[in-house]
Amino acid sequence: MWKPPERIRHTASPGIWPTAEEAARSRLFSPLDLGSRRLAQRSWIPAMVPWRATEEGEVTDDVVEWYARFAQGRPGAIVIEATGIRDVPSGPLLRIGHDRFVPGLRRVVDAVREASGGETLLLIQLIDFLRIRRRPERHVFFTRHLRIDDALRERLGGTREDEAVLRERLETMSDAELADVLPARELESLRMGQRERVGDMEHPHIRELPAVLPGLFAAAAARAREAGFDGVELHYAHAYTMASFLSRLNDRDDGYGGSQEARVRLPLEVYDAVRAAVGTDTLVGCRFLAEECIDGGSTVPDAAFYGRAFAKAGMDFISLSRGGKFEDAAQPKPGWAAYPYTGRSGYECMPQYLSDAGGPFLRNVEPTTAIRAAIRADGLRTPVVVCGGIHNFQQAESLLQEDKADVIGLARQALADPDWFRKLRSGHGEDIRLCRYSNYCEGLDQKHKQVTCELWDREGLEEPGVARSHDGRRRLVAPGWEPTNG
Ligand SMILES: Cc1cc2nc3c(=O)[nH]c(=O)nc-3n(C[C@H](O)[C@H](O)[C@H](O)COP(=O)(O)O)c2cc1C
Ligand code: SF4
Repeated sequence: MWKPPERIRHTASPGIWPTAEEAARSRLFSPLDLGSRRLAQRSWIPAMVPWRATEEGEVTDDVVEWYARFAQGRPGAIVIEATGIRDVPSGPLLRIGHDRFVPGLRRVVDAVREASGGETLLLIQLIDFLRIRRRPERHVFFTRHLRIDDALRERLGGTREDEAVLRERLETMSDAELADVLPARELESLRMGQRERVGDMEHPHIRELPAVLPGLFAAAAARAREAGFDGVELHYAHAYTMASFLSRLNDRDDGYGGSQEARVRLPLEVYDAVRAAVGTDTLVGCRFLAEECIDGGSTVPDAAFYGRAFAKAGMDFISLSRGGKFEDAAQPKPGWAAYPYTGRSGYECMPQYLSDAGGPFLRNVEPTTAIRAAIRADGLRTPVVVCGGIHNFQQAESLLQEDKADVIGLARQALADPDWFRKLRSGHGEDIRLCRYSNYCEGLDQKHKQVTCELWDREGLEEPGVARSHDGRRRLVAPGWEPTNG
């Protein structure tokens, strides 16, 4: 992963943990109305893909146990990992693109209800993504992938060479020579692997996205409702289809790209279709980017515009992330696909302890606060979830007290210690395992390996009944916790 060149080492701070009485009086542990539901406390575990589904995208026992373990900590809400809305093979990514996925997902809902005593709301993140190919071997690219057309021949001086000979010649060219002759997208395919974009209007399946996606999201949301989820989070963040529509880089010329109004049009149409499918008794909100953190990408004023539009449309919540784009991703090894959390924007999404002077904590607070203020200025009360490097009680409580956010999201801190919420509330803050922001978990995610935390995955491996990773070396869920003094 990219790291700021300063490489300043930052350490998560426990701050001062509250007593149980102080926690009971806090804003963090006070309820909040959220659409048709009520959050028992203002905490939220944002979506995190743990790579535990089957190759067919089905829920496994490991998926059920993963979420039940989070639910034991009794946070206000859990958002289940990004789950594919199409019925197409997508590797071990959870899917909701067909009714056959509903019974498996219902198992997760039941397990979370039971483990949290019904206290924790459960949402599922719905995702659509465009195709990205693995970076090809050089020989394969030049013999099979590269398109030889008249324009390319023209750039090579109008050559009439036999195609096979030309391919061989191109393969022997240096990177600098290729940069001069290959079109930018072909060069990108060679260096990074081919990646579709929402602006590829020459492809019918891309051109038709605005016609197809509202129905796909709506059907997926209806299945989520059927499975018993409290709500859905539309994934409009990071490197995926809907975020690409919102992006300033979206140059579609069909009324769904270009201006802010045009870029937000499909996300609003998707929301309308989803709302029509599930009604007002199911929560519908979205996660989108406060800032894309890439050259020419969307900025806080864009996000404020989108946030106001989503709030006005009637979304039940807005959750803000940042970065996580393909545009600045690191070059993958041949045979690997680019990963959107390897460049500077990826760092902004999941900042690590080696950082700049700003550090990895609370990096998204200022942008979130500005976007929330724009929504409030329109007289709209839509709850806003802030997230990014939050790990202690004082951070969380002061963000709420200072009216900077409505709900506190903790992703990696909840992974490091799913009992964070329960420990705090019962006055056992000193028992909390603080996240180191090492990004060991994110490294596993990148390789599509079962995600665990280095702070607990080797602990008590010999205990009976401990579920282990495929290689047997890591436990799959955090050890249990019970207070020692009541
Ligand atoms: C292993 C892992 C998987 C993640 N998967 C998702 C995901 O499916 N959807 C999403 O919106 N964000 C995902 N994220 C990003 C987190 O939700 C969160 O925005 C990010 O980790 C920053 O918050 P934090 O500092 O509290 O960890 C993932 C993060 C991690 C570490
Ligand atoms: S592996 Fe654990 S300590 Fe490291 S960033 Fe992930 S959750 Fe935090």
